[in-house]
Amino acid sequence: MTPRPSPTRALLSLRLLAPLAVVAALFGGCATETIRVVVDTDLDAEAGAVVCVEPHAARIGATVLARGGNAVDAAVATAFALAVTWPEAGNLGGGGFLLHRAADGDATFVDYRETAPAAATPDLFLRPDGTVDPIRVRLGYLPVGVPGTVAGLAAAHQRFGSRPWAELVAPARRLAEDGFLVDAPLAESIARAAAELSRCDEASRVFLRPDGTPLGAGDRLVQSDLAATLALVEEEGPRAFYEGEIARRIVDDASSRGGILTRSDLASYRAVLREPLRGEYRGATVIAGPPPTSGGCVLVESLNQLEGFDPAGLGVGSAAELHLLGEVLRRSFLDRARWLGDPEFVSNPLERLLGEAHAASLRAGIDPSRATPSDVLAADLDGTLPPAEGSTTHFSIVDRHGNAVANTYTLEESWGAKIVARGTGIVLNNEMHDFNVQPGRSTRAGRIGTAPNEIAPGKRMLSSMCPTIVERDGRLLLVTGSPGGRSIPSTVLRVVTAVLDHGLSPRDAVESSRVHHGLYPDRLDVEATVPPEVRASLAARGHALRERDRQGDAHTIGVDPATGRLVAAADRRRSGAAARPVDPR
Ligand code: GLY
Repeated sequence: MTPRPSPTRALLSLRLLAPLAVVAALFGGCATETIRVVVDTDLDAEAGAVVCVEPHAARIGATVLARGGNAVDAAVATAFALAVTWPEAGNLGGGGFLLHRAADGDATFVDYRETAPAAATPDLFLRPDGTVDPIRVRLGYLPVGVPGTVAGLAAAHQRFGSRPWAELVAPARRLAEDGFLVDAPLAESIARAAAELSRCDEASRVFLRPDGTPLGAGDRLVQSDLAATLALVEEEGPRAFYEGEIARRIVDDASSRGGILTRSDLASYRAVLREPLRGEYRGATVIAGPPPTSGGCVLVESLNQLEGFDPAGLGVGSAAELHLLGEVLRRSFLDRARWLGDPEFVSNPLERLLGEAHAASLRAGIDPSRATPSDVLAADLDGTLPPAEGSTTHFSIVDRHGNAVANTYTLEESWGAKIVARGTGIVLNNEMHDFNVQPGRSTRAGRIGTAPNEIAPGKRMLSSMCPTIVERDGRLLLVTGSPGGRSIPSTVLRVVTAVLDHGLSPRDAVESSRVHHGLYPDRLDVEATVPPEVRASLAARGHALRERDRQGDAHTIGVDPATGRLVAAADRRRSGAAARPVDPR
């Protein structure tokens, strides 16, 4: 493993964290109650911890834990807070997956993925010449899937929550109302999206200054419309979003701007509780999500292949080990493209894909000294997956009882469709982009066009999100996940194998250099921290390499098996914060 150089971004965000090191928070409107939480990038904890991309949200989640709330209570509060403080991916207008493992080992997967509106057709984004319209598939109302986040958080809360719903929404509402100072990572994010946000007057009003320049570090971001929306959700619950005033405003705006979203699409949206996927690896059980995400399937299928090799003997981050990770991922991504889609529409052959016979046959084709060209494996596909980009955000939470939540949610691209629904403050997703939008047509330079993930009314688009929990001997070991589009399961694979194969600490696992192979484009993405001699050795094995500054953002909590204490490691690639209640000593 190579030590990660500290980027300016990380230094800036650490500087911002310093004043929050110990915070006395007044919470829930109860002026006599003082709640103390600690915020840092690395924490050791016993009474629970929250790790996410941004310190305000981490503090809000930890404050819920400090008041006796459980992991799901804290997850609801953290998710709503991130919609305010990390609007490029934290959201009310998108969707995601929440994986819950109760202290007794019982696990539940809450699927709140967006769905295609009823009026959506397989050729929604095609131009008359049959090619995909690159603007309509990304921007404006057409790529907006029916948002699932509010329903998903409500479903998780209804099943597992212990604190009143309003109490969990209120901190986010107050933060939107009062505003907060934009920090360096958020300023960078707004600046990157500013040109496209400026096409929407509502988005400009919130995230740009009156002169049209993006809000910068130190500016106060106040989101009055979002505060009013959150107040409705706080008072009326998800009904306000799906059937009430919020639904009316979203649909009115959609109708006036070329969208196809209807009141009935929103009213009929349902979050779904699913049985998680489980895989065994090196004596541990890896719990992850089933379709409509491909993340768990790609992760477990990759681990199944790796089980027959000796990554520990090769050494973490060695060329031989990174080659192996690339080769197993390449093969898992081929199965993703061939088979996977929304289980309500497609029969996903999970038993076969995750079975030992399949792993053995894939393993037999892997040459430790030579990359297998994707064209050799995927002759039937003649195609490519779009590059692994996109933005999403992940947080991990464990409470004092040992209940754990891994939650990954998204607007698809950073800032989704780059629109804010008029009068709501809600940034809307462009998740329809995750469908195979050019049916039957896959090109090496273009998109995958296989049938399982074609658009259909009410269908969930295939995801790569991969909230993951690992247990050993019935005891919680690791909670992790990441953003990063199709590189998500590759990032999670790195973190999980760093712990299970190489015995690294959660911090070192998070720091370990990451690679990604998604079948097509036929190249191995490597983080900039992969040393030159390792890259040379990968190239000599036949890999085309692409260097990336960073891959993913894996906010992770581990449990020290010796002490049972929690070890919270925020991923410092972008920003990231861990928070915990001040432990009773
Ligand atoms: N939109 C990113 C994903 O679901 O994989």
